[in-house]
Formats: sequence, C-alpha cells, structure tokens
Amino acid sequence: MPKIVNSWNDFDPLKHAIVGRADMSVIPPEEPATSEKVPVDSEMRGMWGPRPTETVEKANAQLDNYVKVLEKHGVKVDRPTPLQWNQEIKTPDFRTESGMTQMPPRDILLTIGNEIIASANSFRCRYFEYLAYWPLMNEYFENDPEFKWTQAPRPRLTDKSYKHNYYDEKISLEERLERTANKDFVTTEVEPMWDAADVMRMGKDLFIQHGLTTNRKAMEWFKRYYPDLRVHSVNFPGDPYPIHIDATFVPLRPGLIINNPHRPLPVEQRKIFEANDWQIVEAAKPAHDNPPPLCYSSVWLSMNCLVLDHKTVIVEESEVYQAEQMDKLGMNVIPVPFRDAYAFGGGLHCATADVYREGSMEDYFP
Ligand code: ARG
Repeated sequence: MPKIVNSWNDFDPLKHAIVGRADMSVIPPEEPATSEKVPVDSEMRGMWGPRPTETVEKANAQLDNYVKVLEKHGVKVDRPTPLQWNQEIKTPDFRTESGMTQMPPRDILLTIGNEIIASANSFRCRYFEYLAYWPLMNEYFENDPEFKWTQAPRPRLTDKSYKHNYYDEKISLEERLERTANKDFVTTEVEPMWDAADVMRMGKDLFIQHGLTTNRKAMEWFKRYYPDLRVHSVNFPGDPYPIHIDATFVPLRPGLIINNPHRPLPVEQRKIFEANDWQIVEAAKPAHDNPPPLCYSSVWLSMNCLVLDHKTVIVEESEVYQAEQMDKLGMNVIPVPFRDAYAFGGGLHCATADVYREGSMEDYFP
C-alpha cells in the first residue's frame, strides 16, 4: 500500500494537501480567550453570528480556484467535510453559543513525518473543529498502514484556563506590547494548549511560537512527545496579538526565512539560525493598509505564502511587493487571488495543511 502521509517542513516539494472550506462559518460570540484576541478597534468587537452568505460564496470561489491552481502544479488536494457551526458547543466543562469554521486547516492539523496530530486549541468555539477533518484522517488511516492518526490531549477549557479581565478595553498598545515582551498572555498554564499554526516544522527542529494560543505547558508536552526532536520556544515581542507563526516567520527554502519587520525574532533566539548560516530577511511591506472587512488577521497575511518547492511559491495576487521580493530572492512566483477568503481565518498558508511533501527528516541545525 502507498505511503500517503509524509511532511517534515514547509518547503520540500508539495504533493498532497488539504484546503479548507468556508461553508457554514460563524463569527463566534465572545468567550474568555477570543475577546482578548480581537483588536480593540476592530469592527468585529461584540458582533457574532453566521457569516453573510455572499462572503461565504466569494471565499469558496477563491478557495476552489486555489485548489485548481494547486492541482495544475501536481498537488493532490483533499477538502474537509463542513459541519453546521451555528449551534451550541457544550462539554461537561463549558458551553458556548457556536463553533467557528473549517477554513484554516493549518490551525488544527500538524503533520510531522507520517503523523498528523489534531491540536489542543484554546478557543472554546474551535473545540470540535477537528471533526471536519476526521473523514480524511480515516481515509488516510485505512489506506496508509504507516499513518499515525493522533489527537493531542484535549484541554478542558474551564474558566481556569484563562486569565479573566486580562485586557480591558482601555489597555494601550504599549501596554499590550509590554505584556507580549514579558511573555504574559491571556491563557494560563493549567493544561497544555496549542494551535497547530504556532508550530513551524523544520525537520529535526520545531520552532513554536509562545503567545495567545500556545502556552509553555504545550512546549513541555512537545518535548516529551517527541524526545528525538528539538523544541524551541520562540517569541516575537513586536506583535501585540501573537497568534500563529505564519504571518511572522516564514521559511522559503533551507537556509532562508522571511521575518515580519514589525515582529523581529529577538537576538538571542536568532543565534541558532546564524550559527548554521541561515539568512533571516525582512519581509516586504504589505500592499494594503487594512485587512478586508470582518477579518481577524493583520495586513501581514501578505507574507502568508505557500511554498511548493525550493524554487516555487504561491503569493496572494495583489501583494505586489511581496511577490517582487520573492522574485529577487530567486523564487518563481505563482499569484493567486485570495483576499475574499482572509476573513475566514487567514491566507494561503493558513488555508492548507500538509499531507505529503517529498523529503525526510533533515537536521538543519547540527
Ligand atoms: N496573527 C497573524 C496576523 O494577523 C495571522 C496568522 C493567521 N494564520 C493562521 N494560520 N490562521 O498577522
């Protein structure tokens, strides 16, 4: 039987991926970990409910087109099975009014070698999002005898998992940045919590962003679960809303990373890259001054690109500065329109999850 699942990084030749769907997406109601993560000036504060149908249709049209482009470049694509998220989510420990989406698979599924782990997300509204991927996981399980289908320990997400009234509405940006710098986040340390999109895979090394969605205990969990890998906790003190590493620190090929110039990796954490002759380049500026309407992410989705192989990268069509920079860095750029999908949870990298990339576990930082 063929090997279906294999991926050790974000740049080796991509052959098989999952691309999300926007169907039945909901803007979730406030809950302890979400309100702290929505920028204070966002039009989305206090608003919740199913996303408008025409925005879902437009996002799906761009997602479907993205799938066609990937297939044209030799990537097999699978899609999740949407669930009705506009319904109550309830466990013995909490209840919340609704779920969210199955658009960014990158937040939920972490592929490491022949294993896909469903994450331990800190948002209550995302508690059952993994279910949208279970039909695919089952299919891989039936057809690839080496595939390891894993669920990380499920957090309980009781009130103890969050600091309450942590950010009030009046907190200044400076104060927020100070808290990021002090590694003082809204989530507590009572249990491991992590989003898959906080983990940057690099063969033998995992670089994991410690921020609003991933805590220290998660780092400890990764260390014990993967004793043969090296786990590095990374911080980006310039980010007042540190969620997900893929609009901040993005590898393009072995030896080359682009880093958000507003969120530089601190000097002491750069050492491992510099000692191994990796180049960390400041990413080009975004082409837009504002994110599209009803979007949680920042304009830096400009750098949220999908690398197809060491020479080829997919960049959002309107991000002309990012595309130009990629070209100068020696990459062939495939432009794909994607801004209509941003509001559903992110850009071109977020919207995918790896199933198969060629290559094996390399030690890039010996
Ligand atoms: N926090 C990032 C920003 O706004 C967005 C990251 C989105 N990534 C994702 N995997 N959903 O800059």
